[in-house]
Amino acid sequence: MTDRLRPEAPLGVFDSGLGGLTVVRAIREALPNEDIVYLGDNARVPYGTRSPDTVMKYALTCSRELADRGVKAIVVACNTVSSVALEMLRAELDLPVSGVIVPGARAAAIASGEAPVGVMGTAGTIASGAYTRAVAAQSSRSEVIGQPAPLLVALAEEGWTTGDVPRLVVRRYLSAFFGPDRGVAFPRDAKVGCVVLGCTHFPLFRELIEQELLDLGGRGIPVVDSAVQTAIDVEAFLEARRLKNPHPSGKLDVLVTDMPKSFAEVASRFLGDAITSVHQVDLKSSG
Ligand code: DGL
Repeated sequence: MTDRLRPEAPLGVFDSGLGGLTVVRAIREALPNEDIVYLGDNARVPYGTRSPDTVMKYALTCSRELADRGVKAIVVACNTVSSVALEMLRAELDLPVSGVIVPGARAAAIASGEAPVGVMGTAGTIASGAYTRAVAAQSSRSEVIGQPAPLLVALAEEGWTTGDVPRLVVRRYLSAFFGPDRGVAFPRDAKVGCVVLGCTHFPLFRELIEQELLDLGGRGIPVVDSAVQTAIDVEAFLEARRLKNPHPSGKLDVLVTDMPKSFAEVASRFLGDAITSVHQVDLKSSG
């Protein structure tokens, strides 16, 4: 690994669109000194319905754009990319690269105890089996029940995160984690000990998901947000490499590949803070 990395350099964070800003939010809370360059590849969102080869190609162009801007490390704030492209990115880039799957799986294995882990994610994340492997590496007991939930990505990109439509969609997807329906008056048996928000768009539905889990099963089931766990991991790896910024700063540059104005309008909801400027960039082809 190159020794040109400076603690004062920004962190590079990318996602296919808006969702990775939930990870940025968690990183800013944990590491307020860090400057961040965020790239949302919204011209090509969603990644979650595409083949692993295409996702890897897209991930490489995003990472190279951030590397060219002098970042000290790359945080892949997308479960779909983390599922299929992390090893390739580590091999191709002369930078530390961290993802969102392992931190989430570690927290899930603890939260679930002996019971299976429920994971909601994109079709690509679930099909990759990345959570199944990551949870197995943490615990010999926990199996994974995966549920693709692609409609939630579209609803989040629309900013449509409350009300009857997302509630019904959430309920339908969560049903996969319960035994048979026994009528309205009776809770259903939970097949899982926790539910992982295995997509960076899903923390926006957290309250809705917790409420529907309670309604379906008659008791609370822990929900694991990989964004928070990822921020904890990022802090640990910066610390271990002596790359934490010692100076107060905390600037955020937001780059997108399409429609900066509409991105800025919805983005503040993912970030939990106002976004003042968003710039459009053209990514170089991965060659
Ligand atoms: N950010 C992606 C993820 O976490 C979801 C959006 C997409 O499908 O591109 O998997």
